[in-house]
Amino acid sequence: MNVIIVNDYAELSSTAGRMIAGLLHSKPACTLGLATGSTPLGTYQYLVQRYQAGEISLREAQTFNLDEYCGLPRSHPQSYYHFMYQNLFRHVDIRPDNIHIPCTEGDDLQTQCDSYNALLHATPLDLQLLGIGSNGHIGFCEPGTPFDQETFHTRLSESTRQDNQRFFASLDEVPTTAITMGISNILQARSILLIASGKGKAQCIADMIKGPISEQMPASALRLHADVTVIVDRDAAALL
Ligand code: PGA
Repeated sequence: MNVIIVNDYAELSSTAGRMIAGLLHSKPACTLGLATGSTPLGTYQYLVQRYQAGEISLREAQTFNLDEYCGLPRSHPQSYYHFMYQNLFRHVDIRPDNIHIPCTEGDDLQTQCDSYNALLHATPLDLQLLGIGSNGHIGFCEPGTPFDQETFHTRLSESTRQDNQRFFASLDEVPTTAITMGISNILQARSILLIASGKGKAQCIADMIKGPISEQMPASALRLHADVTVIVDRDAAALL
């Protein structure tokens, strides 16, 4: 793992954004795995600014999001579909056909998982952007997820639901399940970029980097991959 410690969130965002912009320059038709949550917001803002300055284009790129809540329509303000359009897609020149987000609408979630998984197999990712949950999850692969797991319908842990309650009016409104890429899908990406900010991430970052490689710490699976960059600010690096 290549671990980069930066001063603060702004530097984290520009460092991660520069890496993605560099890939868009060197390979305009790249395949990008994208993440939601608070942490990538600054990275997306950086990319939007570079696009508005005429320095990058997503016209040829394809994107594949990690996960999506079940039980929220795509139009819901907390759906990850909505998040991605609000924070990135509507500001740049990506083609709608090139945007891929797990679909959790309808009754047949297994078919939705299988078709997203088939898409991922058909389209290897050049770079997968990841946040990390305070419990060590990546995507919504919660502790206990096997490392060979492919796209699946998962139950969110209570700690994840509590972490995400801040986006909803009450805990009852936080979805209980989601469709997520599995750890196996994530490990298939050619390169992985994980970003983490703040004291609340210090323990999981230390466990990911220095603890045992264990299904109880899903992000530790990344140590099995040859090309992983971790960018953390000083607070998230406090226990390294
Ligand atoms: P956060 O979420 O960026 O909102 O902390 C990270 C995650 O759960 O993967």
